[in-house]
Amino acid sequence: TTRTLLLLPGDGIGPEAMAEVRKIIAYMNAERGAGFTTDEGLVGGCAYDAHGAAISEGDMEKALAADAVLFGAVGGPKWDAVPYEVRPEAGLLRLRKDLKLFANLRPAICYPALASASSLKPELVEGLDILIVRELTGGVYFGEPKEIIDLGNGQKRGIDTQVYDTYEIERIAGVAFELARTRRNRVCSMEKRNVMKSGVLWNQVVTETHKRSYSDVQLDHMLADAGGMQLVRAPKQFDVIVTDNLFGDMLSDVAAMLTGSLGMLPSASLGAPDPKTGKRKALYEPVHGSAPDIAGKGIANPIAMIASFAMCLRYSFNLVEDADRLEQAIAEVLDSGIRTGDIMAEGCRQVGTAEMGDAILTA
Ligand code: NAI
Ligand code: MG
Repeated sequence: TTRTLLLLPGDGIGPEAMAEVRKIIAYMNAERGAGFTTDEGLVGGCAYDAHGAAISEGDMEKALAADAVLFGAVGGPKWDAVPYEVRPEAGLLRLRKDLKLFANLRPAICYPALASASSLKPELVEGLDILIVRELTGGVYFGEPKEIIDLGNGQKRGIDTQVYDTYEIERIAGVAFELARTRRNRVCSMEKRNVMKSGVLWNQVVTETHKRSYSDVQLDHMLADAGGMQLVRAPKQFDVIVTDNLFGDMLSDVAAMLTGSLGMLPSASLGAPDPKTGKRKALYEPVHGSAPDIAGKGIANPIAMIASFAMCLRYSFNLVEDADRLEQAIAEVLDSGIRTGDIMAEGCRQVGTAEMGDAILTA
């Protein structure tokens, strides 16, 4: 088999973190016959410098043709003043839109070795493993009308519109139920049906989708504000959480802080399966940004990027055992007391980006 990957390292620490994934790909090809072929492209500020656009049409074509895209990070002070349409983030937004990536997966995993770095008591988060499935292409971030109206007499009105159609809710619910089956078989759906019509519909459609095709999975519903409270009070009660774009944005950031450092958090964004091949378009990226404050120093934590590649193995290529091995290797290295600066703790040994990557590869 050949498996095609497009690597888009981007700006700042993106290329430094991606270099560690490249080592793992080379190992898997040489030692395990994984058959990955990789191509490279530019995204973000570096693409703007080269082409005057946050991603070139040629690289967009490569992204559309690849089995999966690995994305580093974009942005930095150098590009703070570039025009809005070509700002670094525009490259990521274009990829999400053209690849139709409607499902954003954000795991919140607390490695035992890092439980004491959480904002919560270690016993509340040790062994935590939840997956937030956020709808990414609909809802209030995209609904029309979306504008600021001048009302005269010095008053203006800002308008955003929350819109969800049945098919959008069905397909995101389907992703959540399918993922739950590969985990602990439980889904909690979060909305605000008490004050939002779109929340009433969300609740109905998730319930019907469950009844129709996924009744083997345990389904619960929670109001999103109460869900936020429960995430902080007792996060281990959750397995998969499915929610809309806005609530998912906030709840996944809350969940992120349960687990310690930004340098640890992976994510995946998935599209619909191709009707012919059954393959989904997908993009994998760390949650963190380009970290200009530490870029170029070789000290960034590559784990978020490496764990994003583990998600790629799992979800794009069904290489479940390899994904498990890679995640296990991360846990072992942390257990052995090796740390990058952002997760450094007393009694541990501090290493740079490359040494962390090598330790994980060796494990
Ligand atoms: P950031 O995530 O880049 O950094 C926040 C803090 O966390 C910094 O102190 C940084 O040093 C630290 N940090 C982040 N990742 C780390 C890692 N792997 N290892 C060690 N420390 C790490 O967020 P910030 O500072 O708000 O944004 C910096 C730039 O990144 C901006 O231009 C922003 O627009 C962009 N950004 C890009 C994103 C993307 O590419 N998806 C997401 C978030 C921000
Ligand atoms: Mg956010």
